[in-house]
Amino acid sequence: MDPAKLFLVLALNVCVLGRLALGLGVNWGTMATHKLPPKTVVQMLKDNGIKKVKLFDADKSTMRALAGSGIEVMLAIPNDQLAAMNSYDRAKDWVKKNVTEYNFKGGVNVTYVAVGNEPFLTSYNNTFNNLTFPALQNIQNALNEAGVGENVKATVPLNADVYFSPSSNAVPSAGRFRTDINGLMTQIVEFLAKNNAPFTVNIYPFLSLYGNKDFPFNYAFFDGATPIVDNGIQYTNVFDANFDTLVSALKAAGYGNMTILVGEVGWPTDGDINANIGNAYRFYNGLLPRLAANTGTPLRPGYIEVYLFSLIDEDAKSIEPGNFERHWGLFRYDGQPKFALDLSGQQQNKFLIPAQNVQYLPQKWCMFNPNAKDISNLADSIKYACSRADCTSLGYGSSCNGLDTNGNASYAFNMYFQVQNHDPLSCNFLGLATLTTQNISTGNCNFTIQIASSSAQAFRPTSLLVWLRFAMVALITTSML
Ligand SMILES: *[C@@H]1O[C@H](CO)[C@@H](O)[C@H](O)[C@H]1NC(C)=O
Ligand SMILES: *[C@@H]1O[C@H](CO)[C@@H](O)[C@H](O)[C@H]1NC(C)=O
Ligand SMILES: *[C@@H]1O[C@H](CO)[C@@H](O)[C@H](O)[C@H]1NC(C)=O
Ligand SMILES: *[C@@H]1O[C@H](CO)[C@@H](O)[C@H](O)[C@H]1NC(C)=O
Ligand SMILES: *[C@@H]1O[C@H](CO)[C@@H](O)[C@H](O)[C@H]1NC(C)=O
Ligand SMILES: *[C@@H]1O[C@H](CO)[C@@H](O)[C@H](O)[C@H]1NC(C)=O
Ligand SMILES: *[C@@H]1O[C@H](CO)[C@@H](O)[C@H](O)[C@H]1NC(C)=O
Ligand SMILES: *[C@@H]1O[C@H](CO)[C@@H](O)[C@H](O)[C@H]1NC(C)=O
Repeated sequence: MDPAKLFLVLALNVCVLGRLALGLGVNWGTMATHKLPPKTVVQMLKDNGIKKVKLFDADKSTMRALAGSGIEVMLAIPNDQLAAMNSYDRAKDWVKKNVTEYNFKGGVNVTYVAVGNEPFLTSYNNTFNNLTFPALQNIQNALNEAGVGENVKATVPLNADVYFSPSSNAVPSAGRFRTDINGLMTQIVEFLAKNNAPFTVNIYPFLSLYGNKDFPFNYAFFDGATPIVDNGIQYTNVFDANFDTLVSALKAAGYGNMTILVGEVGWPTDGDINANIGNAYRFYNGLLPRLAANTGTPLRPGYIEVYLFSLIDEDAKSIEPGNFERHWGLFRYDGQPKFALDLSGQQQNKFLIPAQNVQYLPQKWCMFNPNAKDISNLADSIKYACSRADCTSLGYGSSCNGLDTNGNASYAFNMYFQVQNHDPLSCNFLGLATLTTQNISTGNCNFTIQIASSSAQAFRPTSLLVWLRFAMVALITTSML
């Protein structure tokens, strides 16, 4: 290759990496019964060139693992701590312990603090309406007082339901903040503007589809749908339309230039008829090239800071919104990538790099006992297992929906057995269940083996044994001295 060409290739590569560094973040949630060790996750982020994460708290072990990684971090204050942050002293303490204490060379590069998480959802019945704005002010003021306010911005991740366009004129340019919180939103936006902080919004084309059977299916993706025309602008996907509805709402509030950060966007892979690997692949492989090319939206062409939702599946998330909630990960619970995804947006058909050195429990499954005599308790046993383990793959349209009654029982018993870290007592169910060392997965339906989690808590006998062994070793060592 001639040197000029080589230079061009190198320059292009730098561009690609540079764009990725500028652009893409991921949400790292930890509502899982078995969490990958934080250090393993941080290595996985690095291996995949991911330079930004958004957390849902400021957990110490996570922060320690991130220290020195160079990864930029959005920390968060959960909704149930907003009331506490209405005290300025508590807010100062939070900032000191969770932000400034990590602010050293080799520490954690905190760039944002998310104050609450979608606190104005209508399903919260206004619980957080009076608590959010004072908390936001206190946190940003505390950051400013600590001297880090230039680099660390407080923001409130909001659901796209804080704005709307009226049904009589359902186009992006008619976007306004929700009537019941219009005054509150205006105050928040004013404060964000004063501090040069971004507006954070979560946008979910999947939920547009999930909530509305008349929603035009292709409009959830990025590869061509019948356009909706608004003032001569053609909208061919709901992401752009939704984002620009917010742009218009901000404009109406007098802040049409405010930076918008997308706090969450993604597609789940199980737990609903439209949540599958094919649709997730289609969604991401439409979204990522646009982000990499800084396409932006019709009203906001250019770079958008985006955090994908999410990094890893979380088998202990609330399924109140739907069974799909536990399946948003780009990676499975064990750090295995689910589908081909090129974060650089170059559409190379390759998988992300999996988590390294993941330790699994032994190859043992729990299944329905075909020799069970009395099956009168079967339904109750399945119900019990599924109330304590994740059975969301069994539902309509999901990966294990085709199983028969015994298959359902096996699936439920195995999930429970895995959550209980192979406690033999957890594979009995009055004789309805039995152990097997044969992989009983069928077709699309994975009967999984859990990871040997550093934070697994369910199986106390093991930890007791380990503790006893430690005590013995200590005793022996001491007596040898
Ligand atoms: C730091 O953040 C963690 C996790 O959100 C929280 O539990 C803790 O209370 C915070 N520390 C202080 C001093 O507020
Ligand atoms: C932290 O991230 C910001 C934003 O990208 C960057 O400007 C800054 O150099 C980073 N700081 C450190 C210490 O790496
Ligand atoms: C909100 O109100 C409804 C109806 O009054 C109630 O069923 C629901 O539990 C409430 N939700 C919360 C989060 O308080
Ligand atoms: C919020 O504050 C307003 C005005 O102080 C008050 O009328 C309202 O009841 C409060 N709402 C809640 C949910 O506490
Ligand atoms: C918005 O930004 C544009 C381009 O940077 C600038 O020309 C315009 O004056 C800004 N408007 C406001 C209201 O700040
Ligand atoms: C298996 O469980 C799923 C989810 O609860 C249910 O929809 C399905 O009808 C069950 N199948 C049989 C054969 O019982
Ligand atoms: C079990 O079999 C399925 C499907 O054949 C496979 O994908 C999975 O990796 C196997 N599980 C283990 C633990 O070997
Ligand atoms: C089942 O596991 C295999 C690998 O272990 C994976 O390739 C496949 O996508 C999984 N299927 C589902 C539906 O998760």
